[in-house]
Amino acid sequence: MTIHEPGLAELIQRNAERITFTTEMDELLAGARLLFVCVDTPPTYSGDADLSRVRAVVEELPVDSDHVLIMKSTVPAGTGDSIRRDMPGLSYVSCPEFLKEGTAVADFQNPDRVVVGSDPGDEQAAAAVEALYRPLGGEILHTDVSSAEMIKLASNAFLATKISFINEIANVCEEVGADVGEVARGMGLDERIGSSFLRAGIGYGGSCFPKDVTALKMLAGNSGYHFQLLNSVIEVNELQKRRVVGKLGAHLGSLLGKRVALLGLAFKPDTDDMREASSLVLAARLQGEGAEVVAYDPVARERASELLGSVEMADSALAALDGADAAVLVTEWREFAELDWSEAAARMARPLLVDGRNFLDPVALRAAGFEYEGIGKKQEIGAPS
Ligand code: UGA
Repeated sequence: MTIHEPGLAELIQRNAERITFTTEMDELLAGARLLFVCVDTPPTYSGDADLSRVRAVVEELPVDSDHVLIMKSTVPAGTGDSIRRDMPGLSYVSCPEFLKEGTAVADFQNPDRVVVGSDPGDEQAAAAVEALYRPLGGEILHTDVSSAEMIKLASNAFLATKISFINEIANVCEEVGADVGEVARGMGLDERIGSSFLRAGIGYGGSCFPKDVTALKMLAGNSGYHFQLLNSVIEVNELQKRRVVGKLGAHLGSLLGKRVALLGLAFKPDTDDMREASSLVLAARLQGEGAEVVAYDPVARERASELLGSVEMADSALAALDGADAAVLVTEWREFAELDWSEAAARMARPLLVDGRNFLDPVALRAAGFEYEGIGKKQEIGAPS
């Protein structure tokens, strides 16, 4: 199994003639007018965005009329204002990034929209950024700097809200015997709602949603506003990662000494990123209940091993399922759809699967001998063994 998007090394190789690398600031500044700041802004202990890397880069940059600083990093609204206050005369444009891990190149090449935020005096700089992006297509939206910064945070927070909303709908569906897949399809056909980001599951993870939802909540709080809704979005997401434990318990009774296989560990497929992955919380909760946890991920194994030292790492999905009392599909890797599930059922001590991403075909799984349970689907609880 490979990640389908070209890696950085491959991209560099493909475009070798068009890229010049240097570690010398003078050489960089002599050869470039538009200077993109693309460093990460991880969360601090307080939940605010850590801007130390942004500041370290910005301090290196010149304040002159030959260069434009373009902020790609996700920063709290107000950051641009504060940088411009500290560095009068600097040309500053906020141009937030909206690409997704795993499809970053395709997203970059086909943007839904390009947001160009600038304040009075920087019209030429904004025009230069627009000219750079225009060939890619997509609507170009000009705003002031603070609004551009807010668009980024609000977009991520809204997508996370959609996910927590559909996850709560899924939980209600289980109570009333409805199917969240059908519900999401029916909702999504309303153009005002839209069908994307309505896939129920075991919660969102990654380096962006958890961090940016909290950063927006903190930004609001620091400014004196209590962002009530985002508290719920975060709480629902935390609880959603844990619900699987209850589902397993409903089938197995006590999890003490039960062997549970996790299929997939990365926060989503086509990446090896383990940041805020739901698997981390799930594995810890299962171990807390006394279960023995074994896991397989086609790509994230190495990174996951560093974080999940007490979890046994298997070399294949079938090896992970060998002798297991239950399995949880955590990440919807394509290879799991192609697995020989009859063979898997034969190898397991009890062929019980909780599909945390509603990824597999329940009819096929049941035909292969599985007790199958998804998220937000009718409960099919058998008698505890
Ligand atoms: C996200 C945004 O989608 C990008 O627009 C943004 O640029 C990026 O964050 C960022 O700020 O850098 P990313 O974190 O790569 O991108 O991944 P997503 O595809 O958005 O998925 C995030 C999480 O939500 C994953 O754990 C995924 O499994 C989960 N998800 C997504 C759901 O649970 N349900 C859905 O319907 C969609």
